[in-house]
Amino acid sequence: MQPTRRDLLALLAATAAGSVAGAGLAGPVRAAEPSLADAAAAAGLLYGASIASDTLADTAQAALYRRECSILTVDYALKFGWLRPAADRFEPGGADAILAFAGKVPVRGHTLAWNESRPDWLMAMSTAEKRKALDHHIDETVAYYAGRLHSWDVVNEPFWPGHGLPGGYRDGPWMEAFGEGYVERAFRRAHAADPNVPLVLNEAMTERWDEYGAPIRSGLLGLVDRLQDAGVRLDAVGLQGHLLPAHPYDDNAFADFVAELATRKIDIYITELDVDDASFPADIASRDAAVAARYRDFLGAVLAVPAVKIVITWQLADSSSWYYHGELEQHPGASRLPRPLPFDDRLMPKPARDAMLSAFDRRRA
Ligand code: G3I
Repeated sequence: MQPTRRDLLALLAATAAGSVAGAGLAGPVRAAEPSLADAAAAAGLLYGASIASDTLADTAQAALYRRECSILTVDYALKFGWLRPAADRFEPGGADAILAFAGKVPVRGHTLAWNESRPDWLMAMSTAEKRKALDHHIDETVAYYAGRLHSWDVVNEPFWPGHGLPGGYRDGPWMEAFGEGYVERAFRRAHAADPNVPLVLNEAMTERWDEYGAPIRSGLLGLVDRLQDAGVRLDAVGLQGHLLPAHPYDDNAFADFVAELATRKIDIYITELDVDDASFPADIASRDAAVAARYRDFLGAVLAVPAVKIVITWQLADSSSWYYHGELEQHPGASRLPRPLPFDDRLMPKPARDAMLSAFDRRRA
């Protein structure tokens, strides 16, 4: 019989009682059972996960974050549409609760300018009003969180070739407002609002070795060069790492791209790692093994690049994954639920967690 969440809590309490201080969220761990945070720290990395505000009320899952994570990303509470449900409202409560939970553990801000965060009130605005909305959003939000965040994803997903725009840029309100110049503008205003916070450009799909990934990789390299030539502060590039095994990939060639990016003297963060298991067998043992193999092979390749400093999974347990939510929304009561993450929907560790521990150990070697 699978242990219950009460069993897990008892285990975590026992672990805490007989343990040494670990690298996690105030999370002492038993020395014989390294947490992901501890294994990452031993390899000179930070490991963490994105977290949603409603997770804080789930004491078992919150305890797991405390044990396993040494950095957090705010999943959606810092997105434009969540912070600003209306033009005259600013609601930082969800993100503030995550910062309170995190205590001294660093928290990443995600994300100031994303063309996919499009509340209706914004989309109803004129172009001139959209320009004011982005400027005001960045000025107010970055000032409000000044000194409190590890880093900001200033711009998320600048590219999407599928929108057919020149340069392969992603379409949306900020492209309408400023054209591709919104990227540089966002970075400059974020820096002006908090000159000390590290600034990150975050991108998706660069891992795809196909007609979508190639232009995104080349676009990203060119954008980084233009931002640096313009004297914009850029501390790191985030590569999301939503691995899609159904699409072509080449981990070693991707690692070469990561190394090329790193020649720009910036850090590289893997910011949203998970594995879409939809193309794997229904059988859970086979699926978990295939997911673990993707974690093993992908991390084995990218962690060979010294500039890779942080690995963050997009949530920690399957039941909090965007894939899981999406499947239940599309198919309520679905019998096959996604298993993209290191812990399952009962918060039990999976082969993917072992694969990550091994990859961190190999990086240390
Ligand atoms: O939890 C509330 C629920 O209480 C409420 O009734 C419902 C009403 O809409 O909303 C629920 O929150 C949803 C949340 O996911 C949790 O499921 C939000 O509507 C929904 O917008 C939110 O979607 C997030 C999505 O970005 C859009 O912001 C996903 O959680 C999040 O995983 C996803 O993350 C993105 C990254 O930011 C960028 N990279 C891709 C990644 C996956 O799409």
